[in-house]
Amino acid sequence: NRINHIAIIMDGNGRWGKKRGKSRNYGHLKGVGVIERLVKESIKLKIPILTLYTFSTENWKRPRREIDFLFKLIEEYFYKEINNLVKNGIKINILGNIKKLPKKIKNCLIKSISKSKNCKKIIVNLAINYGSKYEILNAYKQLERKNEKISFKNFEKNLYTKNIPNPDFLIRTGGEKRLSNF
Ligand code: IPE
Ligand code: IPE
Ligand code: MG
Repeated sequence: NRINHIAIIMDGNGRWGKKRGKSRNYGHLKGVGVIERLVKESIKLKIPILTLYTFSTENWKRPRREIDFLFKLIEEYFYKEINNLVKNGIKINILGNIKKLPKKIKNCLIKSISKSKNCKKIIVNLAINYGSKYEILNAYKQLERKNEKISFKNFEKNLYTKNIPNPDFLIRTGGEKRLSNF
């Protein structure tokens, strides 16, 4: 009964920063270090797939400054670390509508996906601009566009999560018990 897939809704960063007398963005910044540790531990435990809910379709309602900070953080991280990620066998995959992201982070993510495409140790799915409702609607639109028959099989083929087994565990940090459109 091995674990194939762990999904994490990474919540509570803002509160964590505030509680320490710092900013919400300080919490986000520290969150990056936590992700690094998570990925390292997952590799050690031989968990082949890790999904991290990073930015939801609802998160666009946040103040522009916070959104910009989050995207910048992700972008800078990948620019700095992508070669190390590849060296460590970490394959980056994105779940969500990447097209609607600002150009800089979009290009950076596309490059990271391409550079890491042959990595074999672990797949890290970043759910960015992701929402389960959007995923369902998008799959339906793809079926229409490609004029495919509406069946479970075709529906699944058009999900962002195609070829990915369901998570064995879903963890939400920060204390809330909800899915937030995951
Ligand atoms: C991180 O936690 C989740 C992201 C959208 C980056 P939050 O930013 O939601 O922090 P809390 O829940 O307000 O503390
Ligand atoms: C869930 O956290 C989404 C992510 C971690 C990306 P939120 O803080 O955005 O969700 P709500 O607003 O508490 O439901
Ligand atoms: Mg939150």
